[in-house]
Amino acid sequence: MNIRGTRITGWGVALPDRVVTNADFEARIDTSDQWITERTGIKERRFGGTTASLAAEAGIRAIKSANLIPEDIDLLVLSTTTPDLTTPATSSLVQNLIGTKGGAFDLNAACAGFVYGLVAASGMIKMGSNKVLLIGSDTLSRITDQDDRSTAILFADGAGAIVLEVDSGTDNILAYDLGVDGSAAPILYCNLGDYMKMEGREVFKRAVRVMVDSSNNVLEKANLTNDDIALMVPHQANIRIIEAANQRLGIPIERTAVVLDRTGNTSSASIPLALADAAESGRLKEGDNILFCGFGAGMTWSSAIVKWTIR
Ligand code: ACO
Repeated sequence: MNIRGTRITGWGVALPDRVVTNADFEARIDTSDQWITERTGIKERRFGGTTASLAAEAGIRAIKSANLIPEDIDLLVLSTTTPDLTTPATSSLVQNLIGTKGGAFDLNAACAGFVYGLVAASGMIKMGSNKVLLIGSDTLSRITDQDDRSTAILFADGAGAIVLEVDSGTDNILAYDLGVDGSAAPILYCNLGDYMKMEGREVFKRAVRVMVDSSNNVLEKANLTNDDIALMVPHQANIRIIEAANQRLGIPIERTAVVLDRTGNTSSASIPLALADAAESGRLKEGDNILFCGFGAGMTWSSAIVKWTIR
């Protein structure tokens, strides 16, 4: 049977040049490196660029790493919470910068968006797309009040991308779980033209709960246990959220990808940034099961188990 499965064939990232350390915040607002490190795990983050410029940089790198050229791509999916314009979609700007073929669209499921994009791309591959560029790119510093200590220290800018290609032998997306609870929208939102507002403690509590429930759902759907997961790649919001969820899931931190100490929370970019970091540091081998798990404003959540297909 000719199944139209999906395989990951390349990755790429982009971070702005400007590094903002905890000491930079210490010098400007009522906070401390100690508080930020203990409560979040973040040491530094990057500010700068536009959503399109970072997306294009990451996308070009991912295409190269898959040994492809831009014209080979027949679908571009851009996950972002921070579009550069109301219209056209930021993916149009990125298409023009990269030169991909076929369609392009934006997708917004906040920090759960990248895994939503992975599922959407895999569905499009089943329907006939052959080579999909999936990018997560966000410039959260632009919608964060840099004088509000409860959010300024968390949110930052960056982009990560992967190339997904049809695999006619097998489907390497073993299972997925997507969800949203719109009644929780008031705990994290941003009005048009304004800054983000967040009830941090409430987001924290719910984030741990949805990460655990959603991860357990995909493990069950894939007929796997926590021991079968070689690497967990969670949304990079707060090390305490990751540790609390992983403890309940029985996945040790040694089998978890963490970059938030260097990147802060980059929303749609956080999962591909963590994935690329793990891949580049040799933590992944062909056949490994990766558990992706995101959550974000909405409140949205998304998990997927994917078999790593790169040697
Ligand atoms: N420096 C020093 N003190 C601070 C800071 C800061 N930067 N920020 C808050 N505080 C103070 C508070 O004012 C409070 O003081 P009080 O007790 O006198 O009132 C005290 O620290 C404790 O505040 P809490 O909010 O209870 O601190 P908590 O341990 O919950 O940590 C944090 C706050 C880091 C925001 C945490 O709740 C969190 O990470 N929540 C989840 C946030 C998140 O993940 N959001 C993104 C979701 S994904 C998306 O869609 C973008």
